[in-house]
Amino acid sequence: MTADATTAPTAPTTLTELRSWVEEVAALAKPRDIHWCTGSDEEWSELTDALVATGTFVKLDEAKKPNSFYAASDPTDVARVEDRTYICSVDEKDCGPTNNWMAPAEMKAIMRKLYDGCMAGRTMYVIPFVMGHLEAEKPMFGVEITDSAYVTASMRVMARMGTHVLRRMEELKDAGEEVAWVPALHSVGMPLVEGQADVKWPCNDTKYIVQFPEERMIWSYGSGYGGNALLGKKCYALRIASVMARDEGWLAEHMLILKLTSPQGVTKYVAAAFPSACGKTNLAMLAPTIPGWKVESIGDDIAWMRIGEDGRLWAVNPEYGFFGVAPGTNEHTNPNAMKTINIGNSVFTNVALTEDGDVWWEGLENPPAHATSWKGEPWTPESEELSSHPNSRYCTPIKQCPILADEYDDPRGVPIDAILFGGRRKTTIPLVTEARDWVHGTFMGATLSSETTAAATGAVGVVRRDPMAMLPFIGYNAGDYFNHWITVGKDNDAAKLPKIFYVNWFRRDDEGGFLWPGFGENSRVLKWVIERIDGQAEAVETPIGHVPTPESLDIEGLDLTPEQVAQALAVDVEEWKAEIPGITEWFEKFGEQLPTVLWTELDGLKARLDA
Ligand code: GDP
Ligand code: PGA
Ligand code: MN
Ligand code: MN
Repeated sequence: MTADATTAPTAPTTLTELRSWVEEVAALAKPRDIHWCTGSDEEWSELTDALVATGTFVKLDEAKKPNSFYAASDPTDVARVEDRTYICSVDEKDCGPTNNWMAPAEMKAIMRKLYDGCMAGRTMYVIPFVMGHLEAEKPMFGVEITDSAYVTASMRVMARMGTHVLRRMEELKDAGEEVAWVPALHSVGMPLVEGQADVKWPCNDTKYIVQFPEERMIWSYGSGYGGNALLGKKCYALRIASVMARDEGWLAEHMLILKLTSPQGVTKYVAAAFPSACGKTNLAMLAPTIPGWKVESIGDDIAWMRIGEDGRLWAVNPEYGFFGVAPGTNEHTNPNAMKTINIGNSVFTNVALTEDGDVWWEGLENPPAHATSWKGEPWTPESEELSSHPNSRYCTPIKQCPILADEYDDPRGVPIDAILFGGRRKTTIPLVTEARDWVHGTFMGATLSSETTAAATGAVGVVRRDPMAMLPFIGYNAGDYFNHWITVGKDNDAAKLPKIFYVNWFRRDDEGGFLWPGFGENSRVLKWVIERIDGQAEAVETPIGHVPTPESLDIEGLDLTPEQVAQALAVDVEEWKAEIPGITEWFEKFGEQLPTVLWTELDGLKARLDA
């Protein structure tokens, strides 16, 4: 693409291992040219111009969404593909029963064939990036190679990337330090022969999203969708990082991080793990409805947490942008997300395009009279089909968030006071439950269940176990992962660790409506959580943990009857008894690998339900 885009040996780096990896990939994938990404504004303009020229991007109206773009994917490439995602550990046992496995050599043989010539006619982009802070004690470097300009542009929003990252790697090397980086190879899998016109959204029916945990390496093929293709996010910051975290004694989790300040000016930090499309981004940017409370955002999807010298659990957000679910986002549900995207510099994928050069999606205010749906078809409010894919996304810089906490920029992160686990359950799970202790909290996380969503391909609305909301992201044996959680509790001072809670914003009434209004009203639950930590709020002890007494939850000004609140908080013993066989079956999957204390927790739960 640019004049200086050349292949090695004139590659713009002294990192010999990086140069040889790039050469090796180029020799295999045979791109037309190679572009080393700088991360500059000029590069962004060149990339987005090229994407507009090929029809992948439509530039939005500059007055409405400055420097922003609309993209519609191939209708088959809209979400993470969990059945095509592999953990290729050397030993199958290290992959565990919840992941797909293939022997590394076998997988590499298959994928080398696919990669052979796969970038023909395309530019190969080399993206040096860092997850987390460049100033971190040990910066978490990566280099993504991709043949997708869409991925390259999106990576610039979602991760710290470009020349300054490369220079830092070189500096550290020159200073004699060992510079580790995760090689992350991506191809859309659609080579172009001489004269062949490109399509708007190149991809391949054959897809592989592969992690090699021992080598700390990622190979992805066939998809351009965010979670499959922006390899710093799910593949590195969760799957590979969870393996690093196991080995080094920290936690890589699918969690938002928020800062909560009470009317008295007391600050607490909360991390929360909900499965994809279950409310992390919304909670991270919550606008409280209760007077005097303030929420600031630190992260909306991933938390890396380490025990600090003070014995507390410190969390950083390794990302640089938000990759948020568009449908349902509006001025009422998430005013801060709206402000973030309205500043511009964003990419919208699989939403609807309006005639005046803006975007629209289900749940947004003011439906347009006419629009083009994500499938490229004419759309009106009377249309039977959705204007936007349920997993359509906005990709926007985190620095634009009007309530971003200053601590976002602190490489030390923030000390977490409370961890929330949550899912999407129509029944059974109360609005909020407090765990008795760390092991009980780990049990809550390990047995977390949620209805499947459009964030992954496959059926929607099916209840499944999604431990710690990490089912698709644990890079090793989930039984060992539970052990790792138990160990973190055992090796550290319980009094300094976060308290654990289980929440459910999605319980339904008999008519099928949500029992709890959610969104900004979730501040009432956060308030109760904080007051519990400080020993101020009342709770009732139930077989499943501590739930609020009706008086302890602040419902002043809330448009709900006390009966409705009671229904949202109810612990229904029969419903819980019906959960037990599913939990038992789930635990049996892990055999010897399951920590025995989790069986003990289950026995205790059964006994309390029967009492
Ligand atoms: P994430 O994928 O976990 O970050 O989830 P999001 O915050 O993007 O939310 C996913 C979907 O759930 C969106 O359509 C939201 O509008 C919806 N949602 C988020 N929070 C709530 C809530 O508190 N109540 C209800 N009913 N829906 C919610
Ligand atoms: P989400 O992120 O958790 O915000 O949905 C994307 C994903 O998990 O696929
Ligand atoms: Mn996620
Ligand atoms: Mn999100």
